Amino acid sequence: MKDKVLAFLKEHNDYISGEEISIKLGVTRASIWKNINKLKEEGYQIESATKRGYRLIDTPDVITESEISSIINIHILGKKIHYYDKVDSTNETAKLLARKGAEEGTLVIADRQLMGKGRLGKTWDSPSGTGIWMSLILRPKITPGQASQLTLLAGLNMCEAIGRVTGLDSQIKWPNDIVVNGKKACGILTEMSAELDGVNYIILGIGVNVNMKSFGEDLPHATSLALESGKTYLRRYIVKEFLQLFETDYMRYKDEKSIVVFLERYKKNCITLNHDIKIIASDGEYIAYAKDIAADGSLIVIDDNKQERSVFSGEVSVRGIYDYI
Ligand code: BTN
Repeated sequence: MKDKVLAFLKEHNDYISGEEISIKLGVTRASIWKNINKLKEEGYQIESATKRGYRLIDTPDVITESEISSIINIHILGKKIHYYDKVDSTNETAKLLARKGAEEGTLVIADRQLMGKGRLGKTWDSPSGTGIWMSLILRPKITPGQASQLTLLAGLNMCEAIGRVTGLDSQIKWPNDIVVNGKKACGILTEMSAELDGVNYIILGIGVNVNMKSFGEDLPHATSLALESGKTYLRRYIVKEFLQLFETDYMRYKDEKSIVVFLERYKKNCITLNHDIKIIASDGEYIAYAKDIAADGSLIVIDDNKQERSVFSGEVSVRGIYDYI
């Protein structure tokens, strides 16, 4: 009912009487009043005037299903949205939904995560009202080995979306961290269920630090878009921009089953290239020069012995950012 009342207020730019809403929605005026109060508690600014009724003045920074659906115009990604005020981890919730057969493009998004997951078993700080914590369920017909290519593509699209909405010069630290002024503002955790020859589903989990004003001492390399620009942002517009960019590129990726056509754009935004980097691989740590990105998305580096090597995964630190100065 609350969403219906909200939709009504949005349709009318002017005042609309409680009586008119109650007749149209077939409920009592008391119920309308109760739902208006609920909306006010959520931060919607609604003016009430005697004899004239209610008028919506401002919509808060919420990322609910109805607010996101009302601004996106796309076909697959976000067609179905599951919003939660709080959840342990959107990736975990998305996995449960995927196992139950949730369709491709289903978006799980939460205002707060209680046990947000980062890469390599780390935790991901996900406080309320400040960030974007979301996971997309994808079902592409690709091999398990190709899944990391989707992470690259999502990183590229999020980097571009952040640039478009905020004007900030964000860059990608290979494979998919987004950094602004040398600090991390966004991370991606891709998980999948697969057989040897094909993927059942991929969970693309994305966390963006949007409006945080500070981070704990345990996160010296983290930043938010607000900290870097001095402005705050409506999170739903970053979600919208990302979904729109990613849907177009994801459709093309599914046709081509290759990221080659996206590589020039990726390289243009990649801060890792042409820098000395430190690679923590399973066979030990070494320093190398990041030369290029290969057609499969791996990083081509030149080591101290002038040998070319391919890096597929593992931790990569870029000289000058984060912990490798
Ligand atoms: C990283 O370590 O860089 C990856 C961080 C990924 C965090 C996001 S927030 C939404 C989704 N749900 C999770 O539990 N993790 C990812």
